[in-house]
Amino acid sequence: MMNREDCWELWRKIAREEIRPSAQENFCVLRSSSDTGTEQQTNDAFSDKWGAYEESSEKEVWYQMQKDWYLRLYGFATEDDFADFLQSKKVIFDAGCGLGYKAAWFASLAPESLVVGIDYSEAVGIAAKNYPTQTNLLFAQGDIASTPFSEGSIDYVSCDQVIMHTQHPDETFRELVRVTNPNGGEFACYFYAKKALPRELLDDHFRSACTNMSKEELWDMSNQVTVLGKNLSDLSVSIEVPDIPALEIKGGTYDLQRFIYWNFLKCFWNEDLGEETSIVTNYDWYSPSNARRYSEQEVRGLIDRNGLAIRHFHHEEACHSGRFFKHSPQSK
Ligand SMILES: C[S@@+](CC[C@H](N)C(=O)[O-])C[C@H]1O[C@@H](n2cnc3c(N)ncnc32)[C@H](O)[C@@H]1O
Repeated sequence: MMNREDCWELWRKIAREEIRPSAQENFCVLRSSSDTGTEQQTNDAFSDKWGAYEESSEKEVWYQMQKDWYLRLYGFATEDDFADFLQSKKVIFDAGCGLGYKAAWFASLAPESLVVGIDYSEAVGIAAKNYPTQTNLLFAQGDIASTPFSEGSIDYVSCDQVIMHTQHPDETFRELVRVTNPNGGEFACYFYAKKALPRELLDDHFRSACTNMSKEELWDMSNQVTVLGKNLSDLSVSIEVPDIPALEIKGGTYDLQRFIYWNFLKCFWNEDLGEETSIVTNYDWYSPSNARRYSEQEVRGLIDRNGLAIRHFHHEEACHSGRFFKHSPQSK
């Protein structure tokens, strides 16, 4: 496994910014962490969410579900395939790493690579405390829209479930493309998908209303919509829905809770993941003010405008995701 000293030395080679020393040897605070601006509310919401979830006994089940999902989102058939891929990348960047469990996963699959996790919220400090023994893993608090890394210095950038929470997602995307190595580097990114019209309208309304609510009120509301989701799910009612193009509602046979969930209101409930995870998932949706949604066409446009080619593209009801790489000069 790469040792800590070699990791910081490699960091210094690829970063344009002095490292500000911290009490933890796997952690530093970047200059961009102080430019919070209007993103403050979103970061407060995530600091709060992660602080609460860190205490939850359900988090290991959630982490496993997230890892399995990650492989599907980015086109890896098995964890072994993903490990082979990561081992061919010297520098790996988990952009918006939250509590750092994915960065820690990458670091354990690729022990001879440097893995860096950056997040704006206080979760990243918890991450550094939680994973002190993986010497090839470094964390930093800062803004992924303005990274310290020089152009083309990162071999694998993973921005999973983050970009839409940044202040200017398209600019953040450009920055992550900038740091991706043009020779064999890849950039994996996840985008929230646009949903049916009533759900989009209600989400926008709720998000702006939530900015005037206290944390207690937000947690209360998250509890209430979770109970609603559970009660609807417990009914086990299946309904036939016609196509309603004017409302962008797709017809088909739906479980009642799923129908309301996809088309009207995020009232997440998943028995297997547990009650706390369901509440946090609902909190995570409505509390951050920044949460852009994309159509597939918008995602493809962004990829094109940034001179990227697609290695893998995935779409499901909730999201679009994929792995992209820079066109070689010959193929342009
Ligand atoms: C939904 S969480 C996803 C976390 C992690 N990638 C995962 O998959 O578990 C979104 C994360 O993005 C972080 N974030 C939002 N805007 C950011 C920014 N401009 N710079 C760094 N992190 C940011 C939040 O603090 C939060 O931890």
